[in-house]
Amino acid sequence: MTHPDIHADRVLVLDFGSQYTQLIARRVREIGVYCEIFPWDEDPKRIGAFAPRGVILSGGPQSTVAGESPSIPEIVFALGVPILGICYGMQQLAKQLGGRTEVGVVREFGYARLIVSAASRLFDGLADGEHEGLPALDVWMSHGDRVIDPPPGFAVVAKTQDLPIAAIADERRAWYGVQFHPEVAHTRQGLAILRRFVLEICGLKPSWTAANIAEALIERLKAELAGEEVLLGLSGGVDSTVVAALLARAIGRRLHPVFVDTGLLRRGESAQVLALMREQLGLEVRCVDARERFFAALRGVSDPEEKRRIVGRLFIEVFEEESKKIKNLRYLAQGTIYPDVIESARARTGKAEVIKTHHNVGGLPERMNLKLVEPLRELFKDEVRKLGLALGLPKEIVFRHPFPGPGLAVRVLGEVRPEYVEILQAADAIFLEVLRRHGYYDRVAQAFAVFLPVRSVGVVGDCRAYEWVIALRAVETSDFMTARWAMLPPELLAEASRRIVNEVRGVSRVVYDISDKPPATIEWE
Ligand code: XMP
Repeated sequence: MTHPDIHADRVLVLDFGSQYTQLIARRVREIGVYCEIFPWDEDPKRIGAFAPRGVILSGGPQSTVAGESPSIPEIVFALGVPILGICYGMQQLAKQLGGRTEVGVVREFGYARLIVSAASRLFDGLADGEHEGLPALDVWMSHGDRVIDPPPGFAVVAKTQDLPIAAIADERRAWYGVQFHPEVAHTRQGLAILRRFVLEICGLKPSWTAANIAEALIERLKAELAGEEVLLGLSGGVDSTVVAALLARAIGRRLHPVFVDTGLLRRGESAQVLALMREQLGLEVRCVDARERFFAALRGVSDPEEKRRIVGRLFIEVFEEESKKIKNLRYLAQGTIYPDVIESARARTGKAEVIKTHHNVGGLPERMNLKLVEPLRELFKDEVRKLGLALGLPKEIVFRHPFPGPGLAVRVLGEVRPEYVEILQAADAIFLEVLRRHGYYDRVAQAFAVFLPVRSVGVVGDCRAYEWVIALRAVETSDFMTARWAMLPPELLAEASRRIVNEVRGVSRVVYDISDKPPATIEWE
C-alpha cells in the first residue's frame, strides 16, 4: 500500500530560546507540513541532513547588539531555501547579512498596528483594516531591539507607529523578517501569514494530517516490529491509549498491554480502560490488581516526595514482574511525545529553564534489557489527540484531563489510607460529573478533588458532625507550567458542593481553591 510521505516536505524551526518556539512548530504542523525544532547551535551537519525546504528563525530573549549573540549557522543560508526570521530571528538575520540593529529606547510589548508599506509575497492580499490607504494588520509585538538598516538586497515592507522597520523582504532569495509574532493567536492574520510562507513561498504540500500520520505510523510499526512481541504499560491516559490503538492495528495480539491497578486511580477508571481495550481494540489486557501492595507500601508515609518515590518504585517492580511472564519479549512501547523529546534535549544542553521530573518509568528499558519503541515521539499533544480521533478512540478518552503518575497518592494529603481514597474518588467523580453537565469539563484544562485530612465541624441532618474536608480545584492553562484558577459559575460550585456533602459519607465541608500557578502548583502536593 502506498501513502503520502508525511515527511517529504519539511520545515526547520531554529530555536533561539523564545517561549513561543513550540507554538511556531505547532502552527506549521497545523498548516499540514512536518517540522522539527533544532537549537540554534545544532551541528550544521544535522541541519544539512535534515534538508528542510524552508527555515523559520524563532524569537529569543537575547540582544543582538550586546556582545556575542546567538547566531544563525552559515548552513542555513547555504541551503538556498526560503527563510522567515521572527523577532530576534529577524534582527539576527539583518545583522548577519550586513544590516544594523540597535537597542530600542522603549521595549514594545502587546498589540500594534502593522502598516504594510510595500508589496511583498508575505502579506499580499492580507489586511484587518487600512491606514491612510495602506493595508493594516493587527499584530502582537514583544521586543527590545530593532532593525535600523535593512541588509543589502532587502526592502522594508511594513512599519508601525513607533517602528519604521517592522518587516523586511528579499523576494529574490525569498528571505523575510518580521518583528512581530505571527505564531500567537493575537496576531489575527498570523496563521494566514505562516500559511503563505510555508505553502506558497516554500511551495510545500500539506500532507501532515492525522489520517496520513496514522497510516504512515502503522506501516512503519508493522515493518519495524515484524514478528516481535511488544510490552506496553497502560495508564488510562491519552498517550498510552493512542499508542495501544496504533500498535493494535500494526501488530495485533503481539502487543501485550499491562495495566497496573494501583488503587490510586479515578473512580471507574480501570474498568473503563479494560473495556475500551477489549471492545474497541480487540486486546486482552493483563490487569494486575496491586491495590493492597500499594496501600501497604504507603502506610504511615506522609511526605509527598517519599510517596512519589514509593509509587514509582512499586510500579516498576510490578510491571517488571508481569513482563517476565511474556515469552520472547524484546520491545517496550512508550507514549513519549515531542515536547518530552525537546525538553530532554534542552536539559542535556543546559538550556532548559524549567524541567519537570515527572516521569515514572525512566530507566526501565535498560533494566529489563528491552528496546524502546516510541511511536508518538514526533507529535505534539494536540496532534496525539487528533490521531486518537482518527483511530476511532472515543472523545472522553481523547480529551481527558491529565492525571499525575502517582495518582491519588498526591491528592490525599499526608498519609494515604484506603478509606480516604474511597472518599476522594466519590467526591472527584461527582465534581467531574457536575462539570460535564454544565459544559465546563472541556473548558478547563484540569479539574479534580483533593482530600484534606482535617476535621471540620458541621451539621448534617440534626446532628453535629465532625468530618473531613474536600477541596475542589479547576485550572485553565495550555502548558501546565503556569495556570489560572478557573472562575466556575457559582451554581456549578453550589451543585458540586451540595452533592458531595449529601452523597459522600464522611465529608461535611467543601472548599474551592482560588490559587494561581505560580505561586501555587496545580496539584496540592
Ligand atoms: P504541578 O502540580 O507541578 O503540575 O503544577 C503540573 C502538571 O503535572 C502533573 N503532575 C504530575 N504528573 N507525575 C506526573 O506524571 C507527577 O509526580 C506529577 N505531579 C504533577 C499535574 O497533574 C499537572 O497536570
